[in-house]
Amino acid sequence: MKVTVVGAGAVGASCAEYIAMKNFASEVVLLDIKEGYAEGKAMDLMQTASLNKFDTKISGSTNDYSKTAGSDIAVITSGIPRKPGMTREELIGINAGIVKTVATSLLEHSPNVTIIVVSNPMDTMTYLVHKATGLPKNRIIGMGGALDSARFKYRLAQALEAPISDVDGMVIGGHSDKGMVPLIGHATRNSVKVSEFLSEDKMNWVVEETKVGGATLTGLLGTSAWYAPGAAVSGLVQAIACDQKKMFPCSALLEGEYDLNDICIGVPVILGKNGIEKIVEIELSDAEKAKMQESAEGVKKTNGLLEV
Ligand code: NAI
Repeated sequence: MKVTVVGAGAVGASCAEYIAMKNFASEVVLLDIKEGYAEGKAMDLMQTASLNKFDTKISGSTNDYSKTAGSDIAVITSGIPRKPGMTREELIGINAGIVKTVATSLLEHSPNVTIIVVSNPMDTMTYLVHKATGLPKNRIIGMGGALDSARFKYRLAQALEAPISDVDGMVIGGHSDKGMVPLIGHATRNSVKVSEFLSEDKMNWVVEETKVGGATLTGLLGTSAWYAPGAAVSGLVQAIACDQKKMFPCSALLEGEYDLNDICIGVPVILGKNGIEKIVEIELSDAEKAKMQESAEGVKKTNGLLEV
């Protein structure tokens, strides 16, 4: 199993590290445009192998896509992250050009690759990869909901004063502060709805803190986060590589599901060896349906800025 990670920055290196630590891939190639950067990150990570006891071979490349040839899975993290006060949508101008070039270069050397898009604005970048490559829709997956759901569970556990392993919940919709739809009505603590334990105010607090989860970290760090994004990406990669048939909310191309068409947006999907093996349509309340439609309008507005 060969995995390429394009962009050896904060998120790319973190996800390469988690993939290696989980020891399921034979090879990870890190690729970056910055001279020597991916090679350096790869060497540093390889020097953790004997300490962390993994056998995955990590190598680096400065923009030489021949090194990525025959990749089964590729992760696109190349591009700029947001700074405090910025929205993810503001990154489109620079990142669209980068993501388009990277996706087509990857395909030239790995015709059977499944692509996971991380660069922001992620839903629009995922849509762009569809338009630019024409790959079947099961092989293009946007990572956002897995991270947002992890942040949702973190806040749920805080509000409930419960261990994280006791809580479950999911965030669908667009991967943006305004577009996220944390499904608080479906969230559970040991299979019991959280509304049994939390006041309306507390539930609103969980939802609002989840939606600004990325912005909160950007404010603290001066740039966007990397540990949880890297861990979320590695979970998606592992589900595909190990054919786990696991369910994650991911940005997928919709053709009528959730009454949406010609858009990539976060919905629950089953990930296995064929990438997106199924889009799961869960029952939403009228209020959740309305939020999903509103979120989709926001994503479509950003898609309208693309030149494809
Ligand atoms: P970073 O700045 O640490 O790393 C980005 C890397 O991409 C840099 O090393 C840069 O040299 C490289 N790069 C730029 N152009 C390239 C090209 N044409 N080819 C190859 N490499 C190129 O940024 P970070 O923090 O790793 O974030 C990366 C992207 O991921 C950003 O767009 C950020 O907004 C996004 N992100 C998305 C998340 C999600 O949930 N979807 C979560 C966190 C970040």
